[in-house]
Amino acid sequence: MSHNTFGHLFRVTTFGESHGPGIGAVVDGCPPLIELEAADLQVYLDKRRPGQSRFTTQRQEPDQVRIASGVMPDPRTGKQVTTGTPIGLLIDNVDQRSKDYGEIKDQYRPGHADYTYDVKYGIRDYRGGGRSSARETAMRVAAGGVARKVIPQVTIRGALVQIGPHKINRDNWNWDEIDRNPFFCPDARAAQDWEVYLDGIRKSGSSCGAVIEIVAENVPPGWGAPVYGKLDSEIASAFMSLNAVKAVEIGEGMNAASLSGEENADEMRLGNDGKPLFLSNHAGGILGGISTGQPVVARFAVKPTSSILTTRRSVDRFGNDVEIRTKGRHDPCVGIRAVPVGEAMMALVLADAFLRHRGQVGASVNWPFPKS
Ligand SMILES: Cc1cc2nc3c(=O)[nH]c(=O)nc-3n(C[C@H](O)[C@H](O)[C@H](O)COP(=O)(O)O)c2cc1C
Repeated sequence: MSHNTFGHLFRVTTFGESHGPGIGAVVDGCPPLIELEAADLQVYLDKRRPGQSRFTTQRQEPDQVRIASGVMPDPRTGKQVTTGTPIGLLIDNVDQRSKDYGEIKDQYRPGHADYTYDVKYGIRDYRGGGRSSARETAMRVAAGGVARKVIPQVTIRGALVQIGPHKINRDNWNWDEIDRNPFFCPDARAAQDWEVYLDGIRKSGSSCGAVIEIVAENVPPGWGAPVYGKLDSEIASAFMSLNAVKAVEIGEGMNAASLSGEENADEMRLGNDGKPLFLSNHAGGILGGISTGQPVVARFAVKPTSSILTTRRSVDRFGNDVEIRTKGRHDPCVGIRAVPVGEAMMALVLADAFLRHRGQVGASVNWPFPKS
């Protein structure tokens, strides 16, 4: 199976399954002399770690990351820095329960990749889904931590803005709130309502979907590329490559279709700092595939968790109709743990865009241009 690598100059390859000895990533193309400790990456992995509230799976995956290569102490400072060589990242698998999956060895779980992997490869790892398992996203988070170090001036934050049919009130948006509730929800009031809603979903053994918004601030103008390398297309590809993601929006997204040109096109004025000031950000910080200097805003929707307690109809790999009831420990809404994963994917795209921009154009263009 190929296609385990993401990025161009900042390239990440992940490997491993949920039921092997461990999972890992190779981050290639990271510039040298960037201070990097495992603790820098652990912060983000701890945000993704399951079992932190009753609203995520009770699997216990401590996800302690080790840096296996690509770093050494800087002789001048003694601090551990990147050397410009491949950075190997490793996480041991410690909470596997293959017996949870024994009964569905030959059966295809609705909403999972079981049938498609089997019909494509003639073999599938039924113990947790193998490469289709969201366990893989832990390595994206670790690699995303390295990417953030490449673009330290950029702030990347994510929030859950809808759970099931329940949206936040955007007037209540407060970034400080996302650390104060178990949902990464920026609206304190909505978070309270969500607790009641998700408790009901969880107790009935059902599941729900969610919408996650990722915002990158302090992205300078000029990152990204025209045509096939558009920043929006790379963000969409990054999010769409995540498990359970079914839709991606940039800026106004789908809603742009119902706006007029007057409402949607962001007007410009000269700001007090002598730089262009956009009077709105319907574009989500990207025009022509290139960053405008405004916050890059993107959203993705995840489908409801497929593993639910209700008995469902399916078929087995021998061509029989079966009834299937999923056991094991699952997230009632995968959207919660998808927040740090979405942040990581944004970091990977932007670090790559930064390095490519620097490679092609070098220093930033001096704007405004002198009149000739
Ligand atoms: C962070 C995260 C955790 C997930 N955990 C579960 C889970 O516990 N149970 C489940 O059925 N699906 C879970 N998923 C979704 C499945 O991995 C995914 O739906 C499945 O592999 C089929 O792939 P697709 O939905 O991308 O088509 C999770 C997804 C993410 C992003």
